[in-house]
Amino acid sequence: MAALVRPTRVLRASTRSMAGLTFVRGKATLPDLAYDYGALEPSISGKIMELHHKNHHQTYVNGYNTAIDQLKEAQAKNDIAAQIALKPLINFHGGGHLNHTLFWENLAPKSAGGGAPPSGPLAQAIDQNFGSLNEFQKKMNTALAGIQGSGWAWLVKDKQTGNIAIKTYADAVVGQFQPLLGIDAWEHAYYLQYQNRKAEYFQAIWDVINWKAVEKRFAA
Ligand SMILES: [Fe+2]
Repeated sequence: MAALVRPTRVLRASTRSMAGLTFVRGKATLPDLAYDYGALEPSISGKIMELHHKNHHQTYVNGYNTAIDQLKEAQAKNDIAAQIALKPLINFHGGGHLNHTLFWENLAPKSAGGGAPPSGPLAQAIDQNFGSLNEFQKKMNTALAGIQGSGWAWLVKDKQTGNIAIKTYADAVVGQFQPLLGIDAWEHAYYLQYQNRKAEYFQAIWDVINWKAVEKRFAA
């Protein structure tokens, strides 16, 4: 009977959610935040959160949907060159959408556990790999400070070995590594509040990191 139930459930859903990403009738959509824009203050101002979510992230969503429409057109025409030419756009906008969706989940107000240190297997893995949580944060901040221009630093898990590491990326984390914790080092993430003092932003963000979300990804 279970085999009969499953397709019914899929057909009934006009909105589906997968790994935090939401789609309505095949289109990517801007995910809701689990907290108010001002809830991460003083680490991240409400104005930055609003612009970052409502404007920047929405632009990635729109750009991704447009690129996918163009890809479908190119596929319908069997235009392989056009399909290949769309790859950078899909990487950029799809990567931006994916990264920001993960990023919002990586944050939480202090009142909802933001900044409370990790526990269990993730805490052990961080201690084993980096010496301590404090050392990990220092190394992550060094990686963030080393990004020239725009990009992200991530704590990732090697899908084959289970090992964790810090890596920097321009676009989405795909392939061998699974993204666990990402910090946005684009200027739009901090400039309105911190201007050129981005090291202060990288320091302050640890007060609102949602380690419970990172633990869940690590255990997946
Ligand atoms: Fe961003």
